Amino acid sequence: MALLLPFILWAVAAAAQGVFDFPEYPPAGTPDPNSTLANGAAPYPYNVYEDPGLAQARIHYDTGSYGPTLELVHAYYNYWPTGVGVASDGSIFTTFSRGNESYTLATFTSTTTEEAWPNQEWNTPAAFANESNPGYSIATDKLLLVQAVVVDGLDRVWALDTGRPEVNGSYLLAQVPGGPKIVGFYLNGTNFATYTFPANVVYADSSINDIRLDLRGEGYAYIPDSSPNRPGIIVLNLATGESWRHLDGHPSVTPDNGFVPVYDGVPFYLYPVTSPYAVNNFGLYAADGIALSPDGEYIYFAPLASRQFWRIPTSYLKVKPGPDYPSAYMLAKRAVEHLGESGSNADGMETDSSGYIYAGAPEHNAVTRYNPATGLVEPFVRDPAIQWPDTLAVATLQSGGSYVYFTCNQLWLGPNYQNGTDLRTKPWAMFRAPIEAQKATQLD
Ligand SMILES: *[C@@H]1O[C@H](CO)[C@@H](O)[C@H](O)[C@H]1NC(C)=O
Ligand SMILES: *[C@@H]1O[C@H](CO)[C@@H](O)[C@H](O)[C@H]1NC(C)=O
Ligand SMILES: *[C@@H]1O[C@H](CO)[C@@H](O)[C@H](O)[C@H]1NC(C)=O
Ligand SMILES: *[C@@H]1O[C@H](CO)[C@@H](O)[C@H](O)[C@H]1NC(C)=O
Ligand SMILES: *[C@@H]1O[C@H](CO)[C@@H](O)[C@H](O)[C@H]1NC(C)=O
Ligand SMILES: *[C@@H]1O[C@H](CO)[C@@H](O)[C@H](O)[C@H]1NC(C)=O
Repeated sequence: MALLLPFILWAVAAAAQGVFDFPEYPPAGTPDPNSTLANGAAPYPYNVYEDPGLAQARIHYDTGSYGPTLELVHAYYNYWPTGVGVASDGSIFTTFSRGNESYTLATFTSTTTEEAWPNQEWNTPAAFANESNPGYSIATDKLLLVQAVVVDGLDRVWALDTGRPEVNGSYLLAQVPGGPKIVGFYLNGTNFATYTFPANVVYADSSINDIRLDLRGEGYAYIPDSSPNRPGIIVLNLATGESWRHLDGHPSVTPDNGFVPVYDGVPFYLYPVTSPYAVNNFGLYAADGIALSPDGEYIYFAPLASRQFWRIPTSYLKVKPGPDYPSAYMLAKRAVEHLGESGSNADGMETDSSGYIYAGAPEHNAVTRYNPATGLVEPFVRDPAIQWPDTLAVATLQSGGSYVYFTCNQLWLGPNYQNGTDLRTKPWAMFRAPIEAQKATQLD
């Protein structure tokens, strides 16, 4: 219950002050420090000189929160969530890594329960491990490990399957072509499209992570490869099904291997459960989250192990490198724009119809947003309960209102990051916060 109290206070404060006055400090909705310290917190010990004047001192402090009303949408008591996608009718889709989990793509059946989506059959491949090819997974039209789910501007549901299930807790199988795929469903669960990738676009040790779709013209999808071995951006032509890579190994997609993030105030080093069993930097994770500007002209992205923030005009990415366009690869690398540091590493990213680029800021228990008009990162919403904002989705609901939805999954506390010890605490959470603009539909 302790966590619910601030949400109620914010609802009142936000309604009274107007929610969207950023980037002032403190942003609207921040509890008044005077009232909070005087009424809400026990006095600090001040008995060094037993000076009664110290009892009255109002010491500046960090409330740990700012921004509009944060609502708890869902508490996950079962599987560990990553992705979120929200349709205009309010249906919510979510994804689970697996493992021995019996499904990887799901929808909510209540605020605390989920079920396989579109059904259990889609979530039941014949096997995870490839019998004839040890260490590899299988080719299948069924869902192996859906990392991301996105609802497009036509209310269709797109699942991104990495093709690389994690068996026995920590061993990530390599993929064979036909495992990694992009699968499109109508809202009623009917499959209307499936795209797979050649072995030299999604490599055996690639890790496709997220997807943003541009439905203008022929239609394109942009997919970061977050594997430390294969940092890059994959482009998929939705009309032809052809796919290709750009920015391989470019600094904009490559982890900073000296990166030491700070979570909940604690400098974070990696204690991997696999060899060499040694304290490490967090610098293993490449381009992870991605956002497409509402006009489709830029994608924004960042390596997970870095605070650097980047974008590139999509016009360069749409050109397939090859004999017809031999310089396409070089020109794309030169067209990358460094937008500076964003103040945190970022996992999920998302845009809205006004052009803001929202980004999870796990180092600040916050979601921030980049304003392309000023070139600055602005505060958006912060709360101690935002424990690793993983994936973001903007939705405009038929019932009214537009929101950023995001999962919070305590990623860095998991056993893969903590030398085999699970420091996470159920339930995992999905929150939402209201925004001024609408979903960017990415349509003609
Ligand atoms: C906090 O208290 C001080 C001293 O009473 C007062 O000057 C200040 O305006 C108060 N701040 C707010 C935000 O109410
Ligand atoms: C998966 O297996 C592990 C180890 O046996 C177990 O701790 C965990 O609860 C299982 N997860 C599910 C979702 O069944
Ligand atoms: C197992 O891997 C081999 C070699 O990549 C592949 O040809 C075969 O289709 C895979 N098996 C299944 C069931 O996908
Ligand atoms: C998972 O662990 C079990 C028990 O140790 C072992 O028999 C099995 O081969 C492992 N599976 C894979 C794919 O490594
Ligand atoms: C599902 O929705 C699609 C698109 O609206 C429609 O074409 C199809 O007939 C529907 N299928 C079923 C089984 O209702
Ligand atoms: C990691 O766990 C192993 C096995 O429990 C232990 O021997 C090792 O000391 C741990 N490493 C660190 C850095 O805590």
